[in-house]
Amino acid sequence: MNLHRDIILTGDRPTGPLHLGHYVGSLRQRVALQHHCRQFIIISDAQALTDNAQNPDKVRTNILEVTLDYLAVGIDPRVTTIFIQSMIPELAELTMYYLNLVTVARLQRNPTVKNEIKQRGFGSSIPAGFLCYPVSQAADITAFKANLVPVGEDQLPVIEQTVEIVCNFNRTYNCSILIEPKPLLSKTPRLPGTDGIRKMSKSVGNAISLCDSADMVRKKVKTMYTDPNHVLVSDPGTVKGNPVFAYLDAFDSDKQELDKLKDHYQRGGLGDTIVKQRLVDVLLSELGPIRARREELAKDPSQVMCILKEGTAAAREVVAQNLTEVRKAMRFTIL
Ligand code: TRP
Repeated sequence: MNLHRDIILTGDRPTGPLHLGHYVGSLRQRVALQHHCRQFIIISDAQALTDNAQNPDKVRTNILEVTLDYLAVGIDPRVTTIFIQSMIPELAELTMYYLNLVTVARLQRNPTVKNEIKQRGFGSSIPAGFLCYPVSQAADITAFKANLVPVGEDQLPVIEQTVEIVCNFNRTYNCSILIEPKPLLSKTPRLPGTDGIRKMSKSVGNAISLCDSADMVRKKVKTMYTDPNHVLVSDPGTVKGNPVFAYLDAFDSDKQELDKLKDHYQRGGLGDTIVKQRLVDVLLSELGPIRARREELAKDPSQVMCILKEGTAAAREVVAQNLTEVRKAMRFTIL
């Protein structure tokens, strides 16, 4: 992997503030990658509308929240281009061309889409835009000629479909202008929610947000699921599948001490309260500076919007150039 030539495109739907799952799974990685690669981050508001068409205000307000989260964790707009999807209409145009290169049946077979349709309870009323969002995501990725796409495991089938579209396009129009992207999976496994059952998600209500107050973090950790069979302090406890330890694995930098704690817990004689207190301390020391930076930035939303405006203008230039190549390859008349 030649880091200097890598182009990264990744992003989030602005449907709520980002949480620890995002932080561990992608944000930390983006902060590290931004100095080696050309990184673009898409705030995919148009994609968010595919299952939030009735809630445009929710999507709109969360653009600012998500951007504040990005900046607070250390994504640096001087090296990373952060942009708003809907403000680059060329992306919608490219989506339209790609739609001719995929079948409805293939979209219905996409495991990510299938899963999300079930989760959202669409039944037989699936918005066509939702079914087609992998095509729009393929447009997002290829419009920047991105070769690396950092995503969570659940998004792998979407990248796979992008690769198919790329191959189909290059074959159909007898060119090699589109680049096949590769997924880049985070080394940290996905974080469970505070309920210990499902993956962390704001809509499920099992998330700790990056902007949660110290009191809120304490409260959420206190009510976290642990090991239901660990009734008495003297009982041996289970570490595997215990979200408190999953979080400690992700955030506690003192691995030696953590190993001791795990041993003690498994032997018995270590209460959940003590383990949870350690987690609160670890989380607050990591989140404290992030929250402070976020509060500072939030005082001047116009400055944040300015960052988005400049990022979007820069991103649009790249897209416009690549779109010219695409149109030529498709033999569109240029008058
Ligand atoms: N679908 C992604 C998610 O739900 C967000 C996203 C939109 C994205 N466009 C993208 C991710 C392009 C990677 C590349 O998390």
